[in-house]
Amino acid sequence: MNFFDTIDMAPPDPILGLNTAFKEDPRSNKVNLSIGAYKTDDLQPLVLTAVRKAEQQILSQGMDKEYLSQDGNPEYVNRSIKLVFGAEQDNIFGAQAPGGTAGVRLAAEFLAQIGSSVIYIPDPTWANHNQVFARAGLKAELYPYYDAERREFTKSGMVEAIKSIPSGTPILLHACCHNPTGLDPTPADWKEISTAIKSQELLPVFDFAYQGFGRGIDEDATAVRHFLADGHQMLVANSYSKNFGLYGERIGGFYVVASDGEIAERVKSQVMRIIRANYSNPPLHGSRIIAAVLASDALRQEWESELAVMRKRISGMRKALAEGLNAGGSSVDFSFMYKQNGMFSYSGLSKEAVGRLRDEFAIYMPANGRLNVAGLSPKNLDYVVEAIIAVL
Ligand code: LMR
Repeated sequence: MNFFDTIDMAPPDPILGLNTAFKEDPRSNKVNLSIGAYKTDDLQPLVLTAVRKAEQQILSQGMDKEYLSQDGNPEYVNRSIKLVFGAEQDNIFGAQAPGGTAGVRLAAEFLAQIGSSVIYIPDPTWANHNQVFARAGLKAELYPYYDAERREFTKSGMVEAIKSIPSGTPILLHACCHNPTGLDPTPADWKEISTAIKSQELLPVFDFAYQGFGRGIDEDATAVRHFLADGHQMLVANSYSKNFGLYGERIGGFYVVASDGEIAERVKSQVMRIIRANYSNPPLHGSRIIAAVLASDALRQEWESELAVMRKRISGMRKALAEGLNAGGSSVDFSFMYKQNGMFSYSGLSKEAVGRLRDEFAIYMPANGRLNVAGLSPKNLDYVVEAIIAVL
């Protein structure tokens, strides 16, 4: 018997698949604006100095390699809770997770366990959200987030839609640096959104993958902390891939804000079982790096300034891109890019234009026209500007 002969070929992943295709492309002028990974002005990956120093410290301490418990390294978890929520609280349970994706996946499985069968996600959203929830048995319904005509976040569209979502339903929110649009609600918008979600009795589920890439570490936590202050029960997934540059270490977290500490304990016991059945317990190394950086005033300061350098380089490249396109006589006014923040720019390029950029110019970006601004540098900017103008 042949067990596998009816298996179909799955399509490549819309983001990771492009990254692989980019690596295999032999053209020397190729430009990777696909996966959200930071590159330096020299288009090299960046390992932060604070991370290197923390690793040396860890190595010199000759630490063991024993198993962690299901919820991970306690020092890491406590420091993460402070970074995300501003302070530790009895009613917040946190677990280390192998990356932000695993944090979202834990959220999905936990939601399935408490009886959710649907989650509302923004239109558009990160290309992986839909299948992460689907694989845990949740159907993803869309709520409006982006006004394509005005190229803006639509607060009115979102708040109006919230009013007709059935009570008890989870709703996914990007805490900052919305992926893919780069457009975030203002602090005042978040207040309104929080009130709407509260009165509709929805369960907020934050995906927080870009803390520090928008306006700053605390500024980017505005939404999560405002929802906390508003007394929401909620779920949060966070990632240190981008803000610590620890992409391949797979380090992130999953947090549940319950109504009190006793409920949080029961939630913890269930999440521990979900983790045990999935990957037993998370990997050590990334959690030790983050705990070491956040525990030391000097390393923390160094990390914060390295993060600020990344943030500024990205916003400088976004500005240069928009200016270059406008100065190059593009038929489209790209000034809308100035409103976007975080790693990505939603360029508005059509699927056809994106295809031509790849085929004719070896410039890679996902089909939705999301462009990783952190993959631009003075070395490739002019080339990218000319190519975009050519395909418009
Ligand atoms: C992205 O959106 O490019 C990143 O979050 C990487 C990923 O896993 O898709």
